[in-house]
Amino acid sequence: MATILIHPDTQSAIRATAERLLQAVQGDHDAVLGLATGGTMEPVYHQLVRRADEARLSFAGVTTFNLDEYVGLAADHPQSYRSTMNRLLFDHVDIPRNQTYLPRGDAQDPSAEAIAYEAAIEAAGGIDLQLLGIGRNGHLGFNEPSSSLASRTRIKKLARSTLEANARFFGAGERMPTHAITMGIGTIMKARKLLMLAMGASKADAVAAALEGPVTAACPASILQFHPDVTVVLDQEAASCLKLRDFYEDIHPGGQEVYFAGNS
Ligand code: GLP
Repeated sequence: MATILIHPDTQSAIRATAERLLQAVQGDHDAVLGLATGGTMEPVYHQLVRRADEARLSFAGVTTFNLDEYVGLAADHPQSYRSTMNRLLFDHVDIPRNQTYLPRGDAQDPSAEAIAYEAAIEAAGGIDLQLLGIGRNGHLGFNEPSSSLASRTRIKKLARSTLEANARFFGAGERMPTHAITMGIGTIMKARKLLMLAMGASKADAVAAALEGPVTAACPASILQFHPDVTVVLDQEAASCLKLRDFYEDIHPGGQEVYFAGNS
């Protein structure tokens, strides 16, 4: 079973997620981190930058791979995930920029770019810890419902609900991309550890479907049920539709990790 940590409040869920990223780097200065974007992750990166500074933690040996990028946006476009990651994290830690990977949204041949991205992950030895958010429709990265559960990095068309949800990041009159290059579900599943964070009532249905529903391409995040090392960090609202919520809270009171011999 996944480790499901239901926190008493949103701040505590954010801190716990940032702390796990910090510990991954403290435990392995050459860690390969899989990173995510979205509104959920903004406070996580703020907290991570603050904590890394306090702990004087170097990211000089770290390599990162982001989940996805919009097709058609150049790296310097303010809404590209490259710009977002620079602004939120890479500009504030000592990671060499050439160790931070995102698919190039303006690649001449986006399909070739996707294949090369998958190869780069392999060449780096695979991802140690992959950070994940979840879409309201259960997507991971930009793997929209119906994505193959074995998929690798490729181009995906964005669902209408995703376009609506992400329109807030784009200015009025600004054309929002309709496609993305995203790691596949199969790519994500190869990461040695997964760490998913969901906050707020708008994620409650997707979280319940992912953790307690059938494993199905209709809810791509449901594949997490097949991963051997996944931690899900939730706030109260995001946990509000879980049928087994009491049980998860009994195992991890207040979202704290408690280890038992034989706990699985
Ligand atoms: C985006 C990203 C996902 C993210 C999700 C939720 O479209 N591609 O990686 O997890 O949608 O975003 P938010 O945190 O803004 O709700």
